Amino acid sequence: MPNGQPAPREGDKPAIKPSNLSGLSSEIVRWQKTHGRNSLPWQNTRDPYRVWLSEIMLQQTQVATVLDYYARFLLRFPAVSDLAAAAQDEVMALWSGLGYYSRARNLHRCAQDVMVLHAGQFPRTAEQLQSLPGIGRSTAAAIASFCFGERVAILDGNAKRVLARVIGFSADLAQSGNERALWDMATDLLPDQDLPEVMPRYTQGLMDLGATICLLRQPQCLQCPVQKLCRGFATGEPGNYPVKTRKLKRSAQALSLLWAQKPDGSVWLEKRPTSGIWGGLYCLPVFESDDALKAHLPQPLHARLEALPHFVHVLTHKDLHLSPWIAGFQAAQAMPKAISTDASAGAWFSALAWPGLGLPAPIRKLLAQDASL
Ligand code: ADE
Repeated sequence: MPNGQPAPREGDKPAIKPSNLSGLSSEIVRWQKTHGRNSLPWQNTRDPYRVWLSEIMLQQTQVATVLDYYARFLLRFPAVSDLAAAAQDEVMALWSGLGYYSRARNLHRCAQDVMVLHAGQFPRTAEQLQSLPGIGRSTAAAIASFCFGERVAILDGNAKRVLARVIGFSADLAQSGNERALWDMATDLLPDQDLPEVMPRYTQGLMDLGATICLLRQPQCLQCPVQKLCRGFATGEPGNYPVKTRKLKRSAQALSLLWAQKPDGSVWLEKRPTSGIWGGLYCLPVFESDDALKAHLPQPLHARLEALPHFVHVLTHKDLHLSPWIAGFQAAQAMPKAISTDASAGAWFSALAWPGLGLPAPIRKLLAQDASL
C-alpha cells in the first residue's frame, strides 16, 4: 500500500460526510475571487467554443504550454465552423507538439458534429455535451458550469485531490464504486444559489486550489482557505489522499526510424494510421527494429545507410527508444514499395513544408538537426 495505510476495501465509508462541509463551496468561491486565476485567455467569456477548446487543450497539459497553442488556434479558427471546415492535416499540424493526438482528431470531429448535429451551437447541458467526441464527464461539466451556470461537478485530477483531502476520502479510487461515490459527494458539495454567477467561480476555484495550494507533493495547507474544514489537514497527513492502488506500469518501446533524404534535402514523410502511436501525424517510416528497417530497404541502399545517435523520448506511460537511420536516396529514386505500402500516404517534403505538417515532437526535433549526408 502507498503511504503505509491499511488497504481500504470497496464500500469503505469516508471519514466525514459531505453534509458537515456545508460552508465549503462558499469559502472556495470567496477565495477564488481574490486569490484564484482570473485573467487566463479562456476566462471572462461564456462562449462555449472558446471554453471547450481550452478545456480540451488543458487535459494533461500545463497552462503555460497551452497559452500559445490556444492563441494560434483561435487566430486560424475563430469559430467552430472554421475548425469544422478545416482539413484534418491542418488541425494536426497546429496541434503538433501538444501531444495526445487523439485529442486533436476528436476536436475536429466534435466541431463537425456541432455543425451537423447541433446546427452550429454547442449543446447547453453537461449531459448532451458528453455525447460529443472527446468530451468526458468532467470536461462536459466544466463547459456547462463555466458557460451555462449548470450545477454539475467536475472531477479532474486537481478537483479529485482537493475533494478527497477535504472529505478525508480514504476508499480506493481504483474501484469504480468508490470513484462513483466521490462523484456523488462532489455533486452534493456544489453551490446551490446564484448558480449563473457562482458555478463558474466554484469550478475554477477547485481547479485553482488544486493547481496552486493543494499540491500533490507539498500541499500549502497554511495558505488554504478551507483548512479548517479539511479532514486531510486534521489527520496531519493530507498527502495520504486520494488513495489509488492500481498504478499504471511504465513501459518501453524501441522504434527504428528511416530518414530517407534526397540531394535537394527533401525527406520522405508519410501519414501514420489513425490508431496507434502518433496516429494521423506525418512521420518518418517507423520499424520495430533496426533489422526490420534494413530488411525493408533494397540491398543497394544499404551502402548509403548510416546510423544516427539513438535517443529516448519520454511519453506519459512509455519511454520510446528511437534509432534513426539516414539513407541517401538519389534525385529520381522512388521510395521502395516495401517501405511505403500506401503510396498515397507518403511524399518527399522539403524542409520548408515540415512546419506545416503535423509532425510528432521528437521527429520535428530530429529533423531540425542539420544532418548533412
Ligand atoms: N485546467 C483545466 N481547466 C482549466 C481552467 N479553466 N483554467 C486553468 N486550468 C485548467
